[in-house]
Amino acid sequence: MKALVLSGGAGTRLRPITHTSAKQLVPVANKAVLFYGLESIAEAGITDVGMIVGDTAAEIEEAVGDGSQFGLKITYIPQERPLGLAHAVLIARDYLGDDDFVMYLGDNFIVGGITDLVDEFRGNRPDAQILLTRVADPRAFGVAELDPSGQVIGLEEKPDRPKSDLALVGVYLFTPLIHEAVRAIEPSWRGELEITHAIQHLIDSRADVRSTVITGYWKDTGNVGDMLEVNRMVLEGMDRRIDGDVDTASETIGRVVVEEGARIVNSRIVGPAVIGSGTVITNSYVGPFTSIAENCRITDSEVEFSIVLRDSSIQGVGRIEASLIGRHVEVTPAPSVPSAHRFVLGDHSKVQITS
Ligand code: DAU
Repeated sequence: MKALVLSGGAGTRLRPITHTSAKQLVPVANKAVLFYGLESIAEAGITDVGMIVGDTAAEIEEAVGDGSQFGLKITYIPQERPLGLAHAVLIARDYLGDDDFVMYLGDNFIVGGITDLVDEFRGNRPDAQILLTRVADPRAFGVAELDPSGQVIGLEEKPDRPKSDLALVGVYLFTPLIHEAVRAIEPSWRGELEITHAIQHLIDSRADVRSTVITGYWKDTGNVGDMLEVNRMVLEGMDRRIDGDVDTASETIGRVVVEEGARIVNSRIVGPAVIGSGTVITNSYVGPFTSIAENCRITDSEVEFSIVLRDSSIQGVGRIEASLIGRHVEVTPAPSVPSAHRFVLGDHSKVQITS
């Protein structure tokens, strides 16, 4: 069995962060979202991975390499444009050959991995197996309709009037029958070859399409709120570890990770929080559910429930909350301060805040 991981696409909903970088590489607890997926694939006993890449190919390849860091063998499959999830299957035809495969969307985050699911699929080997979960607003997803026995009878992509609250999760298991289906469908109103339509085609041709409703934690990390939520959840599961330098005037409370090479000077860190290596926190407060990546400078400031990407600096700006801050960002004071700031700052931004 192989895996097909989708790391192309445009990532418009995370702009401006993803103007300059791949959305699958935005870190959660200082580790790229994509890496959690690759680890789950390796854990499920799969080693051969085809990786669909688009405009951000160079960045993905630099981060993932040949996959050996995960125990995987990665083959990159360039996609000229994000023409749809089924288009990705279409262009991976030669790579996938006649193997069964798990298709994993690189921006999806699933707690608990996929091992049980892959084992179940290997055992029963239906023509396809999909994962569903209940969501509050299904209009942003593929949506499944089940009959009273739980059999999938219909799938719609981002419907205005969803027939259920069961959203398609971004992990799919396929036999080679899917290759006929992706060749049979036409592009949707949004100009994409939808995997949802290809699976509907299988259902219409009476193939055995099974579904599993998962109740565990799942997020499509396509927007800032979801990223912060996933970050919160992963940090909550971490153990305390102080490998960096914390001076005697500082305090670290609860599940705090200070990586080797990080320095905490006259500051208070309240977990769960992670401070990346090379980062220096001075005269500041870092509050719960915050991930600060490598080589940042936080000085005379307060940061809570936020993700700060590497090489950024925040100096003398009071309190920052619920923010996603890109790489190489500089946040500095300007005259006169409001009580809290909320940001989505792209890589290389420079922001002036009144003080
Ligand atoms: O997250 C689950 C949802 O994923 C499902 O409920 C939907 O049925 C499914 O269509 C998909 O919807 P999105 O609109 O959220 O997909 P998105 O465009 O964000 O792409 C998902 C991943 O696949 C992302 O990592 C980018 C990558 N991708 C996407 C397209 C369209 C590619 O590599 N190539 C592509 O052509």
